[in-house]
Amino acid sequence: MSKVLVTGGAGFIGSHVAERFLRDGHEVHLVDDLSTGKRENVPAGATLHVHDIRSPEAATLVREGAFHTMVHLAAQMDVRRSVADPVLDAGINIIGSLNLLEALRASGRAADTRVVFSSTGGVIYGDWVTPPNSETVPKDPESPYAIAKLGVEHYLAYYNKVHGFDAVALRYGNVYGPRQDPHGEAGVVAIFCGRILEGRPLTVFGDGEQTRDYVFVADVADATFRAAVLPLPDRERLDSRAFNVGTGKGTSVNELARHLIAASGRDVPIENAPRRAGEQQHSFISVDKASMLLDWRPTTQLSEGLAESFRWFAARHARGSAGA
Ligand SMILES: NC(=O)c1ccc[n+]([C@@H]2O[C@H](COP(=O)([O-])OP(=O)(O)OC[C@H]3O[C@@H](n4cnc5c(N)ncnc54)[C@H](O)[C@@H]3O)[C@@H](O)[C@H]2O)c1
Repeated sequence: MSKVLVTGGAGFIGSHVAERFLRDGHEVHLVDDLSTGKRENVPAGATLHVHDIRSPEAATLVREGAFHTMVHLAAQMDVRRSVADPVLDAGINIIGSLNLLEALRASGRAADTRVVFSSTGGVIYGDWVTPPNSETVPKDPESPYAIAKLGVEHYLAYYNKVHGFDAVALRYGNVYGPRQDPHGEAGVVAIFCGRILEGRPLTVFGDGEQTRDYVFVADVADATFRAAVLPLPDRERLDSRAFNVGTGKGTSVNELARHLIAASGRDVPIENAPRRAGEQQHSFISVDKASMLLDWRPTTQLSEGLAESFRWFAARHARGSAGA
């Protein structure tokens, strides 16, 4: 049994990652300031420490906790908020991350602690290459959020080279599933589920043919677990310890809307709104490297994952209506 710290563990992906480790009998600690995370997401058996990752208390936990693994998911993950307030975004996503990395360095256990960092495959790659993007395609982050994620990847490469850190970056696609917050990087599934449940039309921007790589959260938790526990080749350059975690397939927003309407069994119209400025047309990622080195491929079909997500949102909606 190993001791694991999941930052952002009361959030959407973090709570599923925590469950994945608990299932294999690990001792799981979570650090979360509950800014978007919720106590009700914390799985039974995990210990929650309510701290901001920028705080001295979080640093003390990392320095003295003797963790074998630190899965770092805590983040300000709203791209639009990062555009409105890049200082806030960098404060949490860069300085908060550095606070934890410096604490790990001070612990003297950096080489014995695998750090798994949640980066993004949705917004760091440029539009230079026709997708699916592999890990080595040119990076062209276009938002403060994406710049911060890529920046932390660079810091991890530095901490590896100079201080012997054992770090991995996972570049997630658009993660969806139960407990998803509608405000995040890939909130469209949560937004559409909410709209269907309220009987309101689904709004699709532009012609709806723009594609994204939608990956189910349980598959993401499993990839994260594997990246934390498996032996990996040494880092040689930025991308050698980076793994895309997606499906390798692009799904259009129109397709996504149709799948969700079918899964819900309800009749909700789709309405079009003007295309949003600066929106990438196609974005999906190759998962060949994760398949080869982590022996991982997503196993949840989109229709299955969307149906499971809709059931979860419907149950939550019903509880909310009953309580109202
Ligand atoms: N959801 C996606 O599709 C997606 C895609 C790519 C990358 N990611 C990354 O995965 C990670 C998890 O995202 P999520 O979708 O679960 O979002 P989430 O908002 O549910 O989880 C983030 C968690 O971090 C916590 N947090 C935020 N600021 C904090 C701070 N200063 N100190 C302590 N805790 C703090 C929040 O309370 C929340 O529980 C993030 O790093 C995000 O950038 C997510």
